[in-house]
Amino acid sequence: MKDKVTIHTLKRFKQIGQKICMVTAYDATFAHILEEAGADVLLIGDSLGMVIQGHDSTLPVTMDQMVYHTAAVARGARRAHVVADLPFMSYQVSTQDAVRNAGRLVAEGGAGSIKLEGGAEFADTVRAIVRASIPVMGHLGLTPQSVHKMGGYVVQGRGEDQARQILDDALALEQAGAYAVVLEGVPMDLARTVTQRLSIPTIGIGAGVDCDGQVLVCYDLLGMNPDFKPKFVKRYANLHGSITEAAGTYFAEVRQGAFPDEEHSFKATKNIRLAPGATAPAARVDPSAPAEAGDKLGPVYGRPA
Ligand code: KIV
Repeated sequence: MKDKVTIHTLKRFKQIGQKICMVTAYDATFAHILEEAGADVLLIGDSLGMVIQGHDSTLPVTMDQMVYHTAAVARGARRAHVVADLPFMSYQVSTQDAVRNAGRLVAEGGAGSIKLEGGAEFADTVRAIVRASIPVMGHLGLTPQSVHKMGGYVVQGRGEDQARQILDDALALEQAGAYAVVLEGVPMDLARTVTQRLSIPTIGIGAGVDCDGQVLVCYDLLGMNPDFKPKFVKRYANLHGSITEAAGTYFAEVRQGAFPDEEHSFKATKNIRLAPGATAPAARVDPSAPAEAGDKLGPVYGRPA
């Protein structure tokens, strides 16, 4: 296994011009696969409110849910840096809340850092979390937790005033101790300027190619939802199609009685004769007896070996 990715690795990547590959993950299986595929950073995004829970925004996501999914991803990841979102209202009310909730994502969830949305107005919050030795990733531009303030999911920073505000916010986050900043839904020229002005890495989503890294929601890049195709998403697979086809074949085989066949069924070690109408004697199982060959169902599903 290559060395564990830390916030220092990511800073070095920026210095040497190596692009940072970040992707969302919400469970251990995806975390393991995406890490094997080469992810540097796994983000437990509050986008799980949409892609996992079926809401139309990230707003209903709770701290407990974030901790639950973060712990699952952390169990599936070995090398990648694990960063978890602070959900809506977990850090906006008070700095104390923010530090305590960031601490939960690290202590209970196993995250290596946290991400929060907002600029200069959250500089003190970022400072307090960093003071508690928890690295913070910022998030600027189209910030989904501000959907009502933005009037929808709309590109930010197209005008000069807004662009300047985003640059100032990015500088304020860096100053406050953030180790990286996500730039979402902003013009590519603005993202390039912010990237050049910061010494910490920028991670883009809908922000052009000049950011220090890129992030996508894993379900989007894998083509899980044919109805969701915003301009910034490129689909690298059609898992919706593959899953529909695979599951459809399984259902058809079940209906035909073709599954399970012999290959996928167990056989008794001796001929068992059960007289018609007689109840079979209860099996006497000694729980301490070693399992015989063929008794075990197979590898244990869980943490990667
Ligand atoms: O919640 C999320 O998945 C995110 C990324 C899209 C950056 O914040």
